[in-house]
Order: sequence, then C-alpha cells, then structure tokens
Amino acid sequence: MAHGILGLLRPLQSRLSASRTRLVLLCAETEQHQGPARGWAERAFSSTHQDAPGESSSEDRVTVHFINRDGERLTTTAKEGESLLEVVVNHNLAIDGFGACEGTLACSTCHLIFDKDTFQKLDAISDEELDMLDLAYGLTDTSRLGCQVCVKKWMDGVTLRVPMDVSDMRRQLEVGKQSKQ
Ligand code: FES
Repeated sequence: MAHGILGLLRPLQSRLSASRTRLVLLCAETEQHQGPARGWAERAFSSTHQDAPGESSSEDRVTVHFINRDGERLTTTAKEGESLLEVVVNHNLAIDGFGACEGTLACSTCHLIFDKDTFQKLDAISDEELDMLDLAYGLTDTSRLGCQVCVKKWMDGVTLRVPMDVSDMRRQLEVGKQSKQ
C-alpha cells in the first residue's frame, strides 16, 4: 500500500523538482543587472519582504494592477524580473488561494487573465505551463500562469484579471488517489 502511494508520488516529485529549477532560471535571467540572482524559494514567501530605501530606483519599478476575484482592484509596484507570483506574495496582496504550489507548476492557482495586447507580447509559453493551464478554472485565450511570467518594464500599468474561482490540481490529485484506495 505504502509502496503504491510512493510509486504514484515519484513522477510528481521529479516533475516538481524540474519545474522549480526551471522557474529559478526563468526569472533569474532577467535579474542579472540587479546583482546576484536569488533562488525563488529563498524569497518568495518572505511576506515581510520590503525593499531597503534605495535598493532599486523608481525607474526599475513597474506598476501592476490586479482585479481580484471579487472585482476589487489591487495596485502595487513590482520590480522588473519578479514573477507575477512573487509580486503577489512579496506585496501581501490578498488574493485567495493564489500560488498554492509556490511556483512549482503543480496547481494552476496562479492563473491570471491578460488583455490581448499584453498577452501577445509575453514570452513564449512552455509545454509544462500549457499542460497545467489546461486544468485552470475559467481558462481564456489570454490566460497565463503568474508563476511563469516575469515582470518587464514595458508592462508598466498593466491590468491583470484574477479568475473568479480557483482550481488546485494538487487537491484533485489527492481526491483521485483517495477514491482509488
Ligand atoms: Fe502553482 Fe503557478 S503557483 S502553478
């Protein structure tokens, strides 16, 4: 029995590990000009993270608006190179259930909906993101996962819509496993 569960979890664990490595590389490339890249896990959930005065100039700042699940507008200033998941976490934005897997491409709770123009300018989407996005609640033609999209200067003033609900793939996998037992 225990062997059976471990057998089911093993492929998922290796996928999570690969995804985490990939994510660190994803945004680290755009942060090179800001000093040594720090690992995502190191800072993503340091909810008290605040920039020291002078750490980055206002020129590096990008204003991002989120329309929350209930329609409320949340506005913050992000740093170029942060993932949108990091923006939400580092600024303590109250978006219910967002980023449950901490950016390991295992949940789709970081689903965000872009306007068409912005969506077309984003970096190409990976197969792994597409697979997870397919399972997201309320998928649209301009949907992306926030943990896979890095803030760029040209995004200044962008408005992103958070879907009204969330679907956490990890919970669905759990339910599937329990129903098989
Ligand atoms: Fe889980 Fe993005 S935070 S897929």
